[in-house]
Amino acid sequence: MSKVVIPVTPAGRGLPIPPHDAAGPPGRPADRLGRGIRDLRISVTDRCNFRCTYCMPKEVFGPDYPYLPHAEILTFEEIVRLARVFHGLGIRKIRLTGGEPLLRRGIEDLVAMLFEALPDVDLTLTTNGSALRQKAVALHSAGLRRITVSLDSLDDATFRAMNDADFPVAKVLDAIDFAASAGLAPVKVNMVVKRGTNDAHVVDMAKHFRGTGHIVRFIEFMDVGATNGWRMDDVVPSAEIVRRIGEFFPCEPTNPNHAGEVAKRWRYLDGQGEFGIISSVTEAFCSSCNRARLSTDGSLFTCLFAERGFDLKRLVRSGAPDEDIARAVAAIWHQREDRYSEIRTAETAKARKVEMSFIGG
Ligand code: GTP
Ligand code: 5AD
Ligand code: SF4
Ligand code: SF4
Repeated sequence: MSKVVIPVTPAGRGLPIPPHDAAGPPGRPADRLGRGIRDLRISVTDRCNFRCTYCMPKEVFGPDYPYLPHAEILTFEEIVRLARVFHGLGIRKIRLTGGEPLLRRGIEDLVAMLFEALPDVDLTLTTNGSALRQKAVALHSAGLRRITVSLDSLDDATFRAMNDADFPVAKVLDAIDFAASAGLAPVKVNMVVKRGTNDAHVVDMAKHFRGTGHIVRFIEFMDVGATNGWRMDDVVPSAEIVRRIGEFFPCEPTNPNHAGEVAKRWRYLDGQGEFGIISSVTEAFCSSCNRARLSTDGSLFTCLFAERGFDLKRLVRSGAPDEDIARAVAAIWHQREDRYSEIRTAETAKARKVEMSFIGG
C-alpha cells in the first residue's frame, strides 16, 4: 500500500461550544436521550509502540506521521482539573487510555494525582502490556486498583502479525500475571476478534484464562477511525463467539455489575469464572452510553465515532474558572444525541471519523 498520512487531529476545528452562561450550578446533566455522564476516558498520548492493523496500521502511522506536538497535549495539572470538573457532573469511573498510556512519561504521577484528587472514582487504565512489568508496582502504589490489557491471540505468529511490532505473546502473559500479583486484580484481557485473522483462537483464549481470575472480553472488530479498512465481513458476531465457546465450556449469561456496562457477562457453569462479550456492531449499546472521551489534545468527544470534538483545552488555557468549564461541558452534554452504533450503515462506516488512538478506546 502506498504511504498516506491522514492527519486526524481536529486542532483548530473544534465544534462550537454551545451557550452556557446560565446562572447557577450545572447539576448532573442528561443528554437528549436521557443519558447521564458517568464514565470518562482520557487519552494521555496519541503514540503507541504497537501498530495493530485494526487501530494504527503501519501504512498510515509511519515514521512521518504527524503526532501532536508537546505543547498541544494536556498537562497532568490540566487533566486533573478537568477530571475534577467532570466528577462534579457525575463521573464515577476514569479510564486512562491512548495510544499506549504507559508511554506517557510519569504516568504513575498522573495516577497518584488523580487518586488524591478523586479517591472515590473507579480509576483504571488500558494498556498493551509491553511496559506493564516495569510499571505495575509503581501504578499500584500510586492508587491504581485494576487494569485492562489488550491481547489478540495466544498464537505467537498471529499476535506478532496483529501488533505488527513483532511483540511476543509470552511477555504480555508474563505482564498480566505480574500485574495481578502486584495487586492490579482482576486483570481484564481485551481480544478484538477479526474473521480470518484470529477468530480461530477464541476458544484457546477462553480456555487459557478460565480459572485464573483474569477476565477475557471478546470485542467485535469496529469501524472506528478512517484507516483500518473495516468491512462487515470481518466482524464475528458475538453470538457466534458465545456459541463456539459454549461448545467446549458450557456457560450462561449473568447479571451486569452496573447499568450501562459495555461487556455482557457470561459465567462458566463449572465455576471457572467468567468472560465478557462486547458487541458494539451486532448489538449496539448506545441507549445506555454514559461515556465521555477527552482526547490527547484536550477535546471532548461525546461518541467514539465522532468526527470532531469540543476544544476544552482552549477554555482551560483561556483562564476560565472551573464553574464556567463545568457549564460548558453540561451544555455540550445536554445537546448530545449520539447513537452511532445503532444507526451504522455501510455509508457511515466510510466517514472520516477520528482515530481511536487519539480519543482513547
Ligand atoms: P470495565 O469497567 O473494566 O468493564 O471497562 P469497560 O467496559 O469500559 O471496557 P473497556 O474500557 O476495556 O472497553 C473495552 C472495549 O469496548 C473498548 O476497547 C472498545 O473497543 C469498546 N467500547 C468501549 N466503550 C465503547 C463505546 O462507548 N462505544 C463503542 N462502540 N465501543 C466501546
Ligand atoms: N475495534 C474494536 N476494538 C478496538 N480497539 C482498538 N481498535 C479497535 C477496533 N477497530 C480496542 C483494543 C484495545 C482498546 C484500546 O481498543 O483492543 O483493547
Ligand atoms: Fe496501540 Fe492499543 Fe492501538 Fe494496538 S490497539 S495500536 S496497542 S493503542
Ligand atoms: Fe456511545 Fe457512540 Fe459507542 Fe454508541 S457508538 S455506545 S453513543 S460511544
